[in-house]
Parts: sequence; C-alpha cells; structure tokens
Amino acid sequence: MSRKKISIIGAGNVGATAAFLIAQKQLGDVVMVDIVDGIPQGKALDMAQMGPVEMFDADISGALDYEETAESDVVIITSGSPRKPGMTREDLLNTNAKIVEDVTLNVIRHSPNTIIVMLTNPLDIMTYHAWKVSGFPQNRVVGQAGVLDSARFRTFVAMELDVSVEDITAMVMGGHGDTMVPLPRYTTVGGIPITQLISEDRIEEISDRTRNGGGEIVNLLKVSGYYAAGASLAQMAEAIVLDKKRLIPCSAYLTGQYGIDDLYIGVPIRLGANGVEDILEISLEENELEALQKSSQTYREGIQTIGY
Ligand code: APR
Repeated sequence: MSRKKISIIGAGNVGATAAFLIAQKQLGDVVMVDIVDGIPQGKALDMAQMGPVEMFDADISGALDYEETAESDVVIITSGSPRKPGMTREDLLNTNAKIVEDVTLNVIRHSPNTIIVMLTNPLDIMTYHAWKVSGFPQNRVVGQAGVLDSARFRTFVAMELDVSVEDITAMVMGGHGDTMVPLPRYTTVGGIPITQLISEDRIEEISDRTRNGGGEIVNLLKVSGYYAAGASLAQMAEAIVLDKKRLIPCSAYLTGQYGIDDLYIGVPIRLGANGVEDILEISLEENELEALQKSSQTYREGIQTIGY
C-alpha cells in the first residue's frame, strides 16, 4: 500500500496540532500550507525533528503554494481568521468565506479526487461553501464539529461522575455553535445512559457548558482552543485513510433527513474511505428535533448571507 498524503491548509494553532498528531499516528505524509512565509516550513521542520525522538516515520513539509499538496488523500482546511473574545462565530462569516473559496479552488486544482475536511468557522456554513465551490459530490466534503463538541460533553460528564473518559460515548448534533444539540439520551457511561446517572438539572448545566465550550476557552486563552480541535481532525483523517467506518457526529450535507434539506449540519455519520458513507437518522423526541431544526435556521440564514 502506498503512503497516504494528508494536506493541511492553515498551519496555525489547530492546523499544526492536527499535523503533529497525524504524523505521530503515522497516518501518512503531511503537507502544511499557509500564507505566512516561514510558518508552514518552520513548523514542518520542527515536527520532522520530533520523528526520531517520538519514533514516527512521516515526511512533513511546509509550503506557500499548493504544488506539494498534489494528489492528497485528505485535505484539511483550517485557514481563516480566528475568533476573538466577544466575537461570535457568525462574525467571521464574510472574512472566512473569501479565504475558504480561494483555498478550496487551489485544493481541488491539485487534488481533484481528495476528501475535504473543513474546520474553519462558522463551520457548517464554511463546509457548505467549500462543497459548492468544489463541485465535489457531497460525500467528499465533511465538516469537523461533532467530534469536538461530543469530546467536550464527554469530558464534562467524566468530571461530573469521576469516571474515565474512555467509558463515555456522547452524541451532539446540530450546528457547531450556541444552538448545538447535546443528546443526553444517547450519551452513555459504560453503556448506561447518563439520564440514569445525573439529575436533569445537572445534565442541562453540562449541556450548556458544552454549548459554550469554545467560548469558555477563548475567554481564558484569548484565542480559540486548539488541542481538542486538532485531535478531532486527526481522528477524522484516521477514519478516512484507514477506512475505519467510524460512527461519529460530523457536519454533513442533508437532503431531507430530520426534515432539513440543502444544508450542512451536525448529524451521526459513518466516516470511511469514501468520506461520508452514510447519514444515520436516529429517533429524536419532539423537543430534540425542534432544537435541531431551530439550529438549522441559523445556518440557512448564514448561507444566504454569503450568497446562496
Ligand atoms: N491560505 C492559507 N492559510 C491562511 C489563509 C489563506 N488564504 N488565510 C489565513 N491563513 C492561515 C493563517 O496565516 C494562520 O496561520 O490560517 C491560519 C489560522 O491559524 P490560527 O490563526 O492559529 O487559527 P486557529 O486557532 O488554528 O483556528 C483555525 O478555526 O476557529 C476556527 O475560524 C477559525 O479560521 C479559524 C480556524
């Protein structure tokens, strides 16, 4: 089997963290691209020198143009302007739409058969935008949101119950924003739904903290968090290059599922070598479905703002 190639556009905090974890997991060779001269090249060289210490084999390179990304199996797009304190994800809309368009056109020129994993915020809108600009089939453009959001939910549940995060699985649907929909009924500890272990009030507080998980870190750090986001991207890249067929929440294109059409939004999918291989329609209670559809409204308005 020939080595896989994973390219990462935007060698900032999230992009570089993803690059490091992808190299360390030996998922393939890594190419980072950025517009700031020295950043992708310097980080790549530094990471390559971790190889002999951490004992991983991966060619890691950095560039300002897209030639080295040619024939990538996966391209992760993290390029954009980060969210500043007090700024909503939606404030970033117009700035990042322009960047994502430019980047996507460069990506597809060199890797017409790749799978695009989007990270730039506002996530669900940028994923839709990249899909439109690329002209790719919908299975080959997917957004990272639910892996991170459910990781946050899992972390808070583990803290609450004083149990290992390893035993917790969680499902968070909806957009990657204040309207995301954590699903306690589908969140379990060793197979036991948390609704049997944590009071309704506490679950609501934990869900709220999850919804504000990004903002909580921005307020502390003054920039967006990046370790968990980078790890979530690495997990998605792994699912694709190893054809793992993970069942995880991701931003995927809906064609009527959950009563939502022509939008990208967070839903449970099967992620494998063909990208989004399946979208699962799980049963939702009325209030959960309402919350999901309400979440989708925000994104409908968002794609209209950028001209769709
Ligand atoms: N092409 C390539 N790289 C670009 C471009 C572009 N057109 N525009 C910006 N970049 C690069 C920046 O130079 C920077 O290195 O994208 C990188 C973004 O990195 P950070 O500013 O560190 O942001 P990060 O925390 O990694 O967040 C990445 O996630 O939260 C979202 O929307 C937010 O776009 C941000 C993304």
